Amino acid sequence: MSERVRVGVPVEVKDRERRVALTPSAVHLLIERGHTVVVQRGAGQGAGFSDDDYLEAGATLGAAAAEVWASDVVVKVKEPQPGEFAHLREDLTLFCYLHLAAEPTLTEALQSSGVAAYAFETLTDVHGLPLLAPMSEVAGRASVIVGAAYLSASLGGNGTLMGGAAGVPPAKVVVIGLGVAGSIAARGARGLGAHVTGIDIDLERLYRFRLDGTLDASQASEPALVAGHVREADLVIGAALVPGALAPTVVTEPMVASMRPGSVIVDLAIDQGGCIATARPTTLSDPTYVEHGVVHYCVTNVPGQFPRTASAALSAAVIGKLAILVEDVASGRAGTAAEHPALAGSLNVADGRIVHPAVAQALGT
Ligand SMILES: NC(=O)c1ccc[n+]([C@@H]2O[C@H](COP(=O)([O-])OP(=O)(O)OC[C@H]3O[C@@H](n4cnc5c(N)ncnc54)[C@H](O)[C@@H]3O)[C@@H](O)[C@H]2O)c1
Repeated sequence: MSERVRVGVPVEVKDRERRVALTPSAVHLLIERGHTVVVQRGAGQGAGFSDDDYLEAGATLGAAAAEVWASDVVVKVKEPQPGEFAHLREDLTLFCYLHLAAEPTLTEALQSSGVAAYAFETLTDVHGLPLLAPMSEVAGRASVIVGAAYLSASLGGNGTLMGGAAGVPPAKVVVIGLGVAGSIAARGARGLGAHVTGIDIDLERLYRFRLDGTLDASQASEPALVAGHVREADLVIGAALVPGALAPTVVTEPMVASMRPGSVIVDLAIDQGGCIATARPTTLSDPTYVEHGVVHYCVTNVPGQFPRTASAALSAAVIGKLAILVEDVASGRAGTAAEHPALAGSLNVADGRIVHPAVAQALGT
């Protein structure tokens, strides 16, 4: 039996973020393995879990954030916010979304604290990015709901209904990047009756999603070809990703300027810097701005507004990896060559250095 590890689950403090990293049943799993879990009071409230649910699962409740952050391992959803930087310390292991390529200030805070920071979004297995996928699924579904809503004239959109009407063509939707988020967004847009074009560098995905009916049209990601589709689009959804790196700029500013006034852009890739040149991060409190007459929605925590679904999906994906990380921390293997292969790609910062190659390259170190 390995040493008992104390795991902390703080309240999320990012703007309107209501998710929680672990459900009570996931907490119970850690407790069964002999570890201690400290959950901050109210952490699960937004996701439908009461403090009593966590107590019944065997957790201890902490009133103050500092109490929870004093744990050996802190598991949370979003990257530490500036108000949380003071909790970072050398003997802490952090496991959460980090998206460091677009977060130099946070990277600096992680490096100077000496914390061992493991990112959900760069953990890699044979299937891809298992801890990014659940939130990409939620964000992909949500992007269509949001995009369709902002096309409404009363929200500043051009007044096109996704499915059109008898004798009237549907909205044209262009999805950039047909991975987890993009392919689900494309399906959702098709489900609402829109005409959907998918763009990717991966030709196999273009074939697959064209042939299975997810897309009306598919297009290789080449600037001149992308420009033609974007110019005609009512809604562009950005979901291109190169893991760990800054997102590629697929849609340039002149392409955005060529769009009709009141068209809508939802750039999910904004957490990695955005794949649309005019995208800059927005919040759930203030989600949109207009540039070149186009409504931009670039919220970095889209799933935060669907905390029940998103927390359950995230926790289910995270708990297995967290259990391994906790064992590695207990046995001193974490962050060493003996680290469990199931954590591959996750360690981003350790001993004051950026250790993930793509993240290091994106940040020019
Ligand atoms: N904003 C949010 O709240 C939120 C939530 C979840 C996920 N995301 C983000 O959504 C993005 C997509 O995530 P995912 O899990 O779907 O990634 P994924 O790896 O499953 O898919 C990415 C796709 O982008 C394609 N791609 C790469 N370079 C491209 C280029 N130059 N042109 C066109 N396509 C290109 C890849 O081939 C791949 O098909 C990520 O940045 C992720 O962090 C954002």
